[in-house]
Amino acid sequence: MTHVLKLENLEVVYNDVVLVLKGLSLAAAEGRITALLGANGAGKSTTLKAISGLLESEDGEVTAGSVLYRGRPVQGLPPERVVRMGVFQVMEGRRIFEDLSVEENLRCGAFVSPRAEYAANLDKVYGYFPRLKERRGQLAGYMSGGEQQMLAIGRAIMAKPKLLLLDEPSLGLAPLLVEEIFEIVQMINQKEGVTVLLVEQNARAALNVAEHGYIMENGRIVMEGPARDLLQNPDIQEFYLGMGHAGAKKSYREVKHYRRRKRWLG
Ligand SMILES: Nc1ncnc2c1ncn2[C@@H]1O[C@H](COP(=O)(O)OP(=O)(O)OP(=O)(O)O)[C@@H](O)[C@H]1O
Ligand SMILES: [Mg+2]
Repeated sequence: MTHVLKLENLEVVYNDVVLVLKGLSLAAAEGRITALLGANGAGKSTTLKAISGLLESEDGEVTAGSVLYRGRPVQGLPPERVVRMGVFQVMEGRRIFEDLSVEENLRCGAFVSPRAEYAANLDKVYGYFPRLKERRGQLAGYMSGGEQQMLAIGRAIMAKPKLLLLDEPSLGLAPLLVEEIFEIVQMINQKEGVTVLLVEQNARAALNVAEHGYIMENGRIVMEGPARDLLQNPDIQEFYLGMGHAGAKKSYREVKHYRRRKRWLG
């Protein structure tokens, strides 16, 4: 199995002082979906930004370790270079251009792919997301949360990525819509052969579509394994899937409370 992406002992510091990633290592297998899970503040978004080159705009810096994409170190490269290499990050919170129409937003994603492929790529996106086609002329800011997430993913597809970095696509969406989005992510992975690194707090939804999963806490990976094993793991069931030992579902607050206290490693 080839690993398209390898992070090795990565350290990231913000503002020259705050150490957020503390020796993080993970790998993403070619053509597969890999999930990166963890609670608020674990460093998931920071990890994706370290790959895509977006750290610098936030005064973050890789101070140790390496990010290897197809064996080449990419840490510290400007984001445009990384995008041109085929790596595209869909940021947390659906960063779309609200004042542009749906189709204009999609056109923005197309800047790195050949102009001749524009129409075919647009058709492809509309094939995955018929709702975007229906609303192609509408201002993106008036779309629902779920539709905006579809648009953010659609824009990424326009760039024909080889490695797609998705930051919490389920955030703030109703369960049915979460299912729909994840099904489409899976379809894109299978039909386009796009490798996906999927960051999520919704561990169950992510592990259902991923092949392999990593769990991070406090800037480090604390557990990893095949997704189906993680889904069966009692600790993960309790702390990330909201299932108690008796099978009773814990309240979100309770789980949050445990999440804060629980440490996978001493
Ligand atoms: N631009 C920044 N400057 C300084 N500190 C930052 C910056 N961005 C993130 N951090 C800090 O780094 C830590 C990890 O943040 P990050 O956004 O990577 O976590 P996350 O796992 O994505 O969390 P969430 O699930 O809430 O999105 C947090 O403590 C956060 O406060
Ligand atoms: Mg985040």
